[in-house]
This record gives sequence, C-alpha cells and structure tokens, in this order.
Amino acid sequence: MADIILLLGSVLKHVFGLNEYQYRQKKTRQPIIIDTKNLINGHLLLTGMSGTGKSFQAQRLLASALQQNLDVDIFDVHNELEQPGAVSALYSESTQLGYNLLAINSDPHSGGVRRRINEIISMVNATSRKLGSKQETALRNLLTDVYRVNGCDDNEPKTWRKQEITSQIRQDLIASHNHLELRQYYPIIDDLLSYADRKLTALYLGTNIKAVLALERVNQLAGTLNRALQKHQKSTQDEQVEKTEKALETAKSKVKNEFEAYVDNIESGREINDVMKYNSKDVLQSVIERLNILNAAGIFRPNPPPFGNANGRCHQIKHLSDDQQSMFVTMRLEAIFRQCRDSGVKPDIQHVVFLDEAHKFITEDRDNIVNIIAKEGRKFGLGLWCASQSPTHFSEDFLTNCGTTILLGLHSSYWEMACRKLRIDPAVLKFIRPRQVASIKLQLNGSMESKFQNAIINETELPAIA
Ligand SMILES: Nc1ncnc2c1ncn2[C@@H]1O[C@H](COP(=O)(O)OP(=O)(O)OP(=O)(O)O)[C@@H](O)[C@H]1O
Ligand SMILES: [Mg+2]
Repeated sequence: MADIILLLGSVLKHVFGLNEYQYRQKKTRQPIIIDTKNLINGHLLLTGMSGTGKSFQAQRLLASALQQNLDVDIFDVHNELEQPGAVSALYSESTQLGYNLLAINSDPHSGGVRRRINEIISMVNATSRKLGSKQETALRNLLTDVYRVNGCDDNEPKTWRKQEITSQIRQDLIASHNHLELRQYYPIIDDLLSYADRKLTALYLGTNIKAVLALERVNQLAGTLNRALQKHQKSTQDEQVEKTEKALETAKSKVKNEFEAYVDNIESGREINDVMKYNSKDVLQSVIERLNILNAAGIFRPNPPPFGNANGRCHQIKHLSDDQQSMFVTMRLEAIFRQCRDSGVKPDIQHVVFLDEAHKFITEDRDNIVNIIAKEGRKFGLGLWCASQSPTHFSEDFLTNCGTTILLGLHSSYWEMACRKLRIDPAVLKFIRPRQVASIKLQLNGSMESKFQNAIINETELPAIA
C-alpha cells in the first residue's frame, strides 16, 4: 500500500491567471499554471499590501489543494480562511482546545526527554520575553522533575513512549485515584503547574522555612561577596585596598552568619537541593506566571479539536495573543513536520501548511521550525505556503529557494529592498495592478533562475479553480 501511495504521489495544479502578454498582444487566453511537478518545491510565497487580494488568492489556492486531496493545515490569524471541505477549530479561552505541550517524540534517534525540554525552552524564548538564565534553569529543572515523576528518563529511550492523554481521561483517572494507570500517559501542563506550586509552597511555607530563607540570603549575599572580591583584586592604591578589604570582610561575615542560620535550621537536609534547583521563590513564581499566561487559552492542554479524518484543518488563532500564536504554530508545525518525515520521502507535495501573516512566525534562527520546513519540507512532501505584506520579511535563502513567488502589489516603501532581495528590475513591480495584474515566478526544475511573468488575475477573466 505504501508503495502505491508513493508511486501515485500527489501534485498540485492550480490555474493562477492568464499570461498577460498573450492576452493583450495575441488576444489568446493562455493560463499560467502552478504545477508542483515542474517546480523545485511546493513552497509558495504570496505577498501584497493590504487589499491587494492575499486572502482572495489564498482562498483559491487552498480550495485547489483541498479539491486535489492534499492534506492542508491552515493557520488563520484573522479567522477568515474557513474552507468548504476543511474542519475549522477555534482556539480561545472559552473553547480551551489545545495539544499536550509535554508529549515527547519517542523516536530513539531524534526524540527524548532532554530534546523536548530544550524545544519547550526555545519556544518560550522565541516569544516576546526571553526567560532570564535563572528562570530558564528553574523551568528546566521543573520539567526534568515532572518527567522523572512520570517515569520518563532521558537515558532510557523505552520510557519515552507513553500514551497520549486527553483532559477527560485524566479527569476520570484522577477521580478514581488510578495513579498507576496515569503513569502510562505523558504528563501535562497541569502536572507541571501543580508540581511547581507544591515546590513554591514548600519554599514559602514548609516547616523548613527558616532554613530556606537563610539559604536564599546566602545566595543573594554570594553575589555581593563576588563583586567585593573582584573590586578588591582590582584595587591598587593603599587607601582603596583598605576600603575594599573591609567591604570584603563584611560580605564574608554576612554570608557566614546566614549559612550558620541555615545549618541551625536544617530539618530534612533537602532544603539546599530545592533552593539550588529553583533558586528562589521569586524566580519560581515568575516561571509559573509565564506558563499560566501562555496557557491561558488552554493551548497546551490535551484537548485536540475533533478533526477526525478530514484532510483540511483550519486552525483559527485570532483570539490568541501574539506569544500564544507563536508557541501554538511552532508546536503544531513541529508535529506536522515530524509526521511527514516519519512517513518517509515523497516524490511530490502531499501536505500543505498555510501561514497567514507569516512574518509573525519567522525568525533568523536556523533551528526555527519554519526555516527547517523551508529547507527540508520538500523531501517529505511538505509545502510551506506563506502570506505576508512584503517579500522583504523573508530571508534571501527562502526567497531564492521558493517554488512559487507571487507579487500582488507592494507598497513603494518596500520596492528598493524587494528588488534587491528578489534580484529583479523595478519595472517588474511597476506593471502590477492590484486585483488586475500580478507578477509570478515559477522556479522550474533544472532551470538556473526563472523570471517573473505578469498574469491577468481579475476574477471575471479566470476559469473556475483547477
Ligand atoms: N483578483 C481579484 N478579482 C476580483 N476581486 C478581488 C481580487 N482580488 C481581491 N479581490 C477583492 O478585493 C478585496 C480585498 O481583497 P483581500 O481581502 O483578499 O485583500 P488582502 O490582501 O487579504 O487584504 P488584508 O491584508 O487587509 O487582509 C476583497 O473584496 C476581494 O474579494
Ligand atoms: Mg487578508
């Protein structure tokens, strides 16, 4: 069966417009067709300023892909790209739809606990507020602890494979106190948050509060001591040496006093572990707050939308904040890419991901999943379709390696940079007329550098889709 699918492969054929030259000079209607069989890859870039028809073209392209039975995931930031034949899911505080952030890739070569922890931390760091180094350490430790409690050990690949839980299954198991069976599933964000809360309570209110507070003060004072030491080493004049020596002695004796207070108050002996791991209650609290804000709409909880076997899925993410959108899209793209890669190499496009306002999700980071799909998606039949106001939002690497580039009308402030990045003559941009004439480049297989050509795109002139 797998061979048959491989042989048939999928392609995408889409009538974009009519060749303008033929239309005006020769009065013939020659269609310009996007045919992925002839292109270097199934990636596509759709650019144009507001009102030039990005959404209009996106609707036509997506309809073609769905009609031709490709798998399609639409990331819809304006909740306007619903398609007949695709199931839509609205992510918001009231629907609480989401996917388990803590599910691990169980592949012994490409997966694992440590990898997942790194991925989660990079995702949080790619949002508008990067974690501080102490917060990052605290989050790493929290995640490691929660996975360990759940029996997932980075050194034991066989412990990476667990079942996917849903919020309902989890509720039922907790209600029936079936903790043994609960461990057959991946932990979820609520496990992480309640573990962090327990740690926080222990740091605040535990019977060992005196020891913990003393240790926190040791921690803070160690910083003062370190600065005093550095100053002392740098001081040269006698007077200065005397002053810094005094400051150093004061700092040392304060640390000693607090450390003594800690030793006097030791009860369990584990106090030092928790303070070292989580640094301080302020750090821990700030990490919990960040996770709560990111998860306010429940996007990390295992409540996947009921997509069933639909080949089109429209993820409506308008109601998520920018940071939530960024984490959500990254998380889904990683899962989609993994799924395409695991099902093997394909001769042509089988799956499309459409990113509206794609500039929101693109970073310079080479490990960013959008950049990974741009580079490796073709091999596994995955096409990346991006819509944005200007091509200048994309890397030159992506622009030169994109099967289809469509210009619907750029704001003149982007012209200079766009011409440089796309290596085109400004004349190409001059002849574009929004909703009438667009410019399209089809990067053909085996051709060094294909050229932009103009296309009549007025709805009344076009044949029906595909
Ligand atoms: N080729 C076309 N032929 C006829 N009408 C079109 C064409 N392209 C776009 N339109 C119409 O122009 C209007 C604006 O198009 P659209 O909403 O797709 O623009 P947009 O680029 O998505 O804008 P925004 O960036 O503000 O979302 C719509 O009413 C749409 O139906
Ligand atoms: Mg639009």
